[in-house]
Amino acid sequence: MKSSQSLIRRTFVIVAAWLFLFTSLGWGTTPMIAIIPQPVNMTVGEGVFTLAPDTVIVSREDTNDLAHYLKEVLASSTGYPLEIRKTQKDSHCIILSLNSDLEHLGTEGYLLKVTPDQVRLEAPRNEGIFYGIMTLWQLLPAEIFQQTRVEGITWQMPCVAIEDYPRFRWRGMHLDTARHFMPKEFVKKYIGLLALHKMNVFHWHLTEDQGWRIEIKKYPRLTEVGAWRKETLVGHILKKPRKFDRTRHGGFYSQADIREIVEYARRRYVTIVPEIEMPGHAQAAIAAYPELGNTGEQLEVWTTWGVNENIFNPNESTILFLQDVLSEVLELFPGEFIHIGGDEALKNQWEQSSQVQARIKELGLKDEHELQSYFIKRMDTFLRAKGRRLIGWDEILEGGLAPGATVMSWRGETGGIAAAQAGHDVVMAPMTHTYFDHYQGNPENEPPAIGGLLPLEKVYEFNPVPSGLTPEQARHILGAQGQVWTEYLPNPDKVEYMAFPRVCALAEVVWTPLEKKSYENFRQNRLPTHLQRLKILNVNYRPLD
Ligand code: ACM
Repeated sequence: MKSSQSLIRRTFVIVAAWLFLFTSLGWGTTPMIAIIPQPVNMTVGEGVFTLAPDTVIVSREDTNDLAHYLKEVLASSTGYPLEIRKTQKDSHCIILSLNSDLEHLGTEGYLLKVTPDQVRLEAPRNEGIFYGIMTLWQLLPAEIFQQTRVEGITWQMPCVAIEDYPRFRWRGMHLDTARHFMPKEFVKKYIGLLALHKMNVFHWHLTEDQGWRIEIKKYPRLTEVGAWRKETLVGHILKKPRKFDRTRHGGFYSQADIREIVEYARRRYVTIVPEIEMPGHAQAAIAAYPELGNTGEQLEVWTTWGVNENIFNPNESTILFLQDVLSEVLELFPGEFIHIGGDEALKNQWEQSSQVQARIKELGLKDEHELQSYFIKRMDTFLRAKGRRLIGWDEILEGGLAPGATVMSWRGETGGIAAAQAGHDVVMAPMTHTYFDHYQGNPENEPPAIGGLLPLEKVYEFNPVPSGLTPEQARHILGAQGQVWTEYLPNPDKVEYMAFPRVCALAEVVWTPLEKKSYENFRQNRLPTHLQRLKILNVNYRPLD
């Protein structure tokens, strides 16, 4: 008798302790909330909203595409064929609604209110509705990201009220598809992952010494010849003796492929910034059309890495050739910005060419740097006449910046600071904090990379606004961007390993207000849950230390 009483008492104590633990730690009925990037303001309420087969999406005509997008996002894993209606009945529903009273949230902000009966997502523009959907997606169990139906899950999200908007308008990721060609399906996957992190710019590096990857109808040899190299260096460039793999490598995106990718990005509010490199990083194009070079030599598409001296000549015919290329680029890419490269253009061949020296005299220029500046200014004038804006790596400052140019600051912050002080817009992409081709940990334990060291925490701590700018100058910092160069990343798995989870950290750099950032909270409380989502999405992310 006595022992059964003590058993009951012991059981009672254990149950009470568990109940206390569950409720005080926010487990039990309230699922863990792990949104990346961290929203501006969030309050957590009582209870949950449970998604059911009869949940209705309420949307007027103006958010119809987004309602369909939401339906698709929720369909594969739940198997629920959610109905979309124009008006609200008294049913359990998710309401999408544009609301011009919310203009103070900016073009990309939104309000999301989850109560047990209803989810209400409001924004001044469609962009905000989209970002609200990205948040809503992350409020559900990680299995919602499964591409096939999952049984046995209660699809519930915690009751919350979220007010959210981004810190910067340029939230970018770059991908070099030229050093190694990346399949079209992977480019789409990468863009989808950017959107999930509320990133909105995909900087697509399309041309290089080692390969030209965009079909240009007027100049078919750019891809017939320029998209293929006969072999590739094996191992690191610094390793001697050099060995090659004797395997042809290449590929390109047809204009139909590009249209498909642009449409995929458009639906996810990602703008693609295509990059056509000039006057340097041009060997593949010169291999296709030797008259674009300075020596007349028949070059091959480059098979090794680094910076080489084969750059475009500055002749009028070459400028017109490149403007023809840009005309086709403009037809394909509707975004405001076009990237013209501009980095690492060695001037040896221009110095040694009597034709180029005559051109410098004829144009009344001082030197090769002013000639490069002249070259870029011609592109700036061309693009502005078509209603677009030129962006280039920070070398475009040398010899004088073109009037309409935006600078992408990669060799540290200095170029960005100079450009902002001169009243030009700037995207911060410094090697020190945003080069995701650098190692993430001790090289002895990492797959081969180009060099450097950029651990997750260093990405997280990056502040795109350099100190020392006046508030007026700081307004020229459009945002920041991560770079993924692919010399040592021959396939999508390797790209994903280098990009993730550093993209997750960068997303918070460019979205979350400075005072709301906390590496500790990101790394300990949210990233582990978020990585479950990436795992389900088959992202080969680098495991945490
Ligand atoms: C660059 O890394 N050459 C922009």
